[in-house]
Amino acid sequence: MAIIIDDVNRLFTLHTQNTTYQFKADSFGFLLHLYYGKRIDNQNMDYLIIPVDRGFSGNPNDAGDDRTYSLDTFPLEYPTEGTGDFRPPALAVTNPDGSRIADLRYHTYTVVDGKYSLPGLPALYDDTGEAAETLVVTLRDAVSGLEVELMYGVFSKTDIITRAVRVHNAGTGNITLRRVMSASLDIQYGQWDIIHFHGRHNMERQFERGSVTHGITAVGSRRGTSSHQHNPFIILCGNDATEYSGSCYGVNLVYSGGFLAQVEQDQNNLVRMNMGMSDDGLNWQLPPGDSFVSPEAVISFSSNGLSQLSHNYHTVYRNNLCRGKYKLCRRPIIINNWEATYFDFDSDMLTQIATDAAELGVEMLVMDDGWFGKRDSDTSSLGDWTVNLDKIPGGLAPLVEQINALGMKFGIWVEPEMVSEDSDLYRAHPDWVLAVPGRAPVRSRCQLVLDLSRAEVCDYLFDAMAAVLDSANIEYVKWDMNRSISDWYSHLLPAERQGELMHRYVLGLYHLLERITQRYPDVLFEGCSGGGGRFDPGMLFYHPLIWCSDNTDAIERLKIQYGTSFAYPVSSVSSHVSAVPNHQTGRTTPLLARSIVAMSGNYGFELDTTMLSAAEKNEIRGQIKLYKQYQHILHNGLYYRLSSPFEQPYTAWMMVLADQSAALLNIVVSSQSANASPLHLQLKGLDPDASYQLGEEDGTYTGAALMSAGFAIQAPTEEHYACQILLQRHVE
Ligand code: DGJ
Repeated sequence: MAIIIDDVNRLFTLHTQNTTYQFKADSFGFLLHLYYGKRIDNQNMDYLIIPVDRGFSGNPNDAGDDRTYSLDTFPLEYPTEGTGDFRPPALAVTNPDGSRIADLRYHTYTVVDGKYSLPGLPALYDDTGEAAETLVVTLRDAVSGLEVELMYGVFSKTDIITRAVRVHNAGTGNITLRRVMSASLDIQYGQWDIIHFHGRHNMERQFERGSVTHGITAVGSRRGTSSHQHNPFIILCGNDATEYSGSCYGVNLVYSGGFLAQVEQDQNNLVRMNMGMSDDGLNWQLPPGDSFVSPEAVISFSSNGLSQLSHNYHTVYRNNLCRGKYKLCRRPIIINNWEATYFDFDSDMLTQIATDAAELGVEMLVMDDGWFGKRDSDTSSLGDWTVNLDKIPGGLAPLVEQINALGMKFGIWVEPEMVSEDSDLYRAHPDWVLAVPGRAPVRSRCQLVLDLSRAEVCDYLFDAMAAVLDSANIEYVKWDMNRSISDWYSHLLPAERQGELMHRYVLGLYHLLERITQRYPDVLFEGCSGGGGRFDPGMLFYHPLIWCSDNTDAIERLKIQYGTSFAYPVSSVSSHVSAVPNHQTGRTTPLLARSIVAMSGNYGFELDTTMLSAAEKNEIRGQIKLYKQYQHILHNGLYYRLSSPFEQPYTAWMMVLADQSAALLNIVVSSQSANASPLHLQLKGLDPDASYQLGEEDGTYTGAALMSAGFAIQAPTEEHYACQILLQRHVE
């Protein structure tokens, strides 16, 4: 049993294989958080609650004259506004009388087998025999009638606990929700660092680590998407934690809209972490009888450092989040024409690129932006999803047939959520865009955003996408989204409901994605938002892979993919070999470095094959062969970061099969210096007692030696040296 309830003490204990999470309802019915960390059996940890009068803290009326009882100093399971706790709340409401209090007391609980699901929202599921369990704890505000269900999903084998919240108005008046966090976690003791992943377009998910200090540290997005600028994933780790030791908590929001992650160290040095959808402008009307469901947060704890934490997320996302035919199997190696042609292409050029690519071993052509309407630049035609017959004579079917005749599959780019002002769609339905009446909307990349909170807009998009996908043998869709959202105003919603729009947009998007992915179960969907601007678990529920960044420079990708690896598995990262000099940085790197970096993802190409020399083609042919040989290790292996591109002039990482029979070591040097020392790496994840053969070398090394003494190579003298070494367990 993963969930243990002590009814006498109203004590709730959630166990995973290596962790324990515990909270209790105290005598007043307040939910106090007791512990989350390394597994502890058979222990009520309420002895850790030490009431103290810190002064200037509120004492609930029920406590009488006891000044030591204060919600301001206790660790709370789901803190609310207005109850004498002055730290950031998880829930903020306005009651029918205008008051801003939710005094939630314990009411009841249920435990069920299996994992809860969330209506209209992506969430982890359990169909893998993991035997997940669900706990739902119900709290009530006796005055307003507000009911809050705290949902917990326990995935024992992967040390994952999910959290979500359902808020229900069982009262008689209209309640307004101003903040509904998905998870809140109070940690009473320890010295903590926060790790988060910031960035910008072309430079997403840059690792940053700093101390948690008094006051609030917050990251988030107000852009309507999870964003390039911050990722909805943070880690709290002991200030002495490393990749392979120490305590680490992760929290990741399964949501693709704006979010907020807050960490506060309070006057008692207790650390509170809140994670949820952005409350910026949130004003959700909850009339009597209505419910609101928050997105899900996925939390995990590792007592063995950051790599173990990443393994927990990677495993659960591959098995219990991604869906569809391509969830676990090898995806086709693709060539995408964007960096080869940009908007300037036609059927002949695509066929030529595909012909050369097929001969190299590439398995699919993806036709990128520019095939529809009269789109020759980014100023027009979004919304008009009909083929440009000047570029693609005869339409999609003949082109796809030609590509299929080469033995290749065909994929297509779309950007359904957007509209150009220069489009038939906009001319017919100017009120379908997000725009404030009487004000000209903000443009970004010359485009506006369709109002996906409107059912008729989503219906139009479903029909338009279905018409494209039904018109030819299309086996892959790259779903792009190329701007942040401003002008939050829907022509359909009444004034008092405009504060619901940011979330309604995301719900509309998820509904559309669900319909399309269910209608086309054999199509492989790749998510994209100007590269990795929406790289989040919400999107992974619909798209098992996401274009990681528009930056295809192998050296910069080391940092981007390093940051991405903390939460997201290699199989979710779309990564391509592009031409040199690189289009984003002007840097020239050897093909081997580009290839090794791209292989730590869904391998593909983004270049004009007709421009490749015979020698380059030869090398690519060999690399594609290797990818096919190594793919099961690359995607199924446990991922170990061996060095950081933010600290070392090289990056090394490895993947190790679960049975430790084989591993792949990858090294790419980002900057060279003269007369450098040998590169020395302590490998990870091997069987210490086994012997491993490295590549084609004669002789073997024990796993113990490779992990403890390490492995060294002579400092390379060529620029951006890269190597990939297969380790195979030696069998006598
Ligand atoms: C942004 C994407 O990230 C690129 O790969 C490409 O598809 C362009 N959009 C096309 O407009």
